[in-house]
Amino acid sequence: MKIDGKAYRTIWLKDDGWSVEIIDQTRLPHEFVTATLTTMQDAAVAIKTMQVRGAPLIGATAAYGLCLALREDASDEAMDLAIAHLNEQRPTAVNLRWALEEMRKAVRNLPREERLAAAYRRAATLCDEDVETCRMIGVHGLKLIEEIAARKGPGEPVNVLTHCNAGWIACVDWGTATSPVYQAHDKGIAVHVWVDETRPRNQGASLTAFELGAHGVPHTIIVDNAGGHLMQHGKVDLVIVGTDRVTASGDVCNKIGTYLKALAARDNDIPFYVTLPFSTIDWTIDDGFSIPIEERSADEVLKMPGRLPDGSVVTVEIAAPGSGAGNPAFDVTPARLVTGLVTERGICAASPEGLKGLYPENA
Ligand code: MRU
Repeated sequence: MKIDGKAYRTIWLKDDGWSVEIIDQTRLPHEFVTATLTTMQDAAVAIKTMQVRGAPLIGATAAYGLCLALREDASDEAMDLAIAHLNEQRPTAVNLRWALEEMRKAVRNLPREERLAAAYRRAATLCDEDVETCRMIGVHGLKLIEEIAARKGPGEPVNVLTHCNAGWIACVDWGTATSPVYQAHDKGIAVHVWVDETRPRNQGASLTAFELGAHGVPHTIIVDNAGGHLMQHGKVDLVIVGTDRVTASGDVCNKIGTYLKALAARDNDIPFYVTLPFSTIDWTIDDGFSIPIEERSADEVLKMPGRLPDGSVVTVEIAAPGSGAGNPAFDVTPARLVTGLVTERGICAASPEGLKGLYPENA
């Protein structure tokens, strides 16, 4: 997608052919800054500190992180250690494990001297595949927006509510939840997005709003608690969110607060769709409550970064001094609350049958 008229992906190889450039998301929306990863540990830190975040993008970053590890040591032992280290940086999004296993498969049977080139080739195809997968999620999701637009008056926007950032910034390009929105907007369909700010890290206010604005999509930031009220007053036509892990039975794990939006959507008969690439499905578990939920630092709740009038970015304390804070980063929306799963292969019910219908090879 474009920023100031220039097309970007979120991760790319530099001209030297080996070091990896990322958009540093901890600096958005106040500054657009890129960072260079030259070691496996740089990639691990970028994932942990959320310079890169979003399930598909942390997978892509880990893939290049493994390439950087193999530059130093392409032995089986070093590879196993690097994969384990990268994998433990964030526990919830299964795309991280998936991407690292793809990398392992691509190199494990090769002689050492061929491993590095093969790893870089696989990391590049993994990124290209993510772009095409997200584009196809948009092709299928677009139909949902078109159906609602057809029932509305001319020029009356379709109001989509989204939570967190499942945009192109969270993937390599296009995004998952945003891909149908971008494709509708590009086709001339009037669409407006309610952007949940998504406390505590504000991925909605900082990132989703940033990328929708850069692409010219009308949007309004709302506090996380406003969604239910807007739904009760007929101001939301459709909820579209992303996910970090979907179980084989269709339970959906996503950014904390997603479950509350699903409850409000159900109570108000508003369709609640979850967008995902195949790499987000964890076929090894059925029950969403067995997904590990990342617990992040209390500082993310107790402090908030922001820009002062002089342009400097500072972090301020916002809570009563001495109070502690809990910070579970994800929650689970049971399959029964999900209207449908929008994947690169089409839309299916959030159920074992629905998923197996689209992915019979995993049945
Ligand atoms: O903690 P984050 O910012 O990595 O969480 C991101 C989300 O919850 C997204 O909705 C999810 O990763 C889907 S990204 C296409």
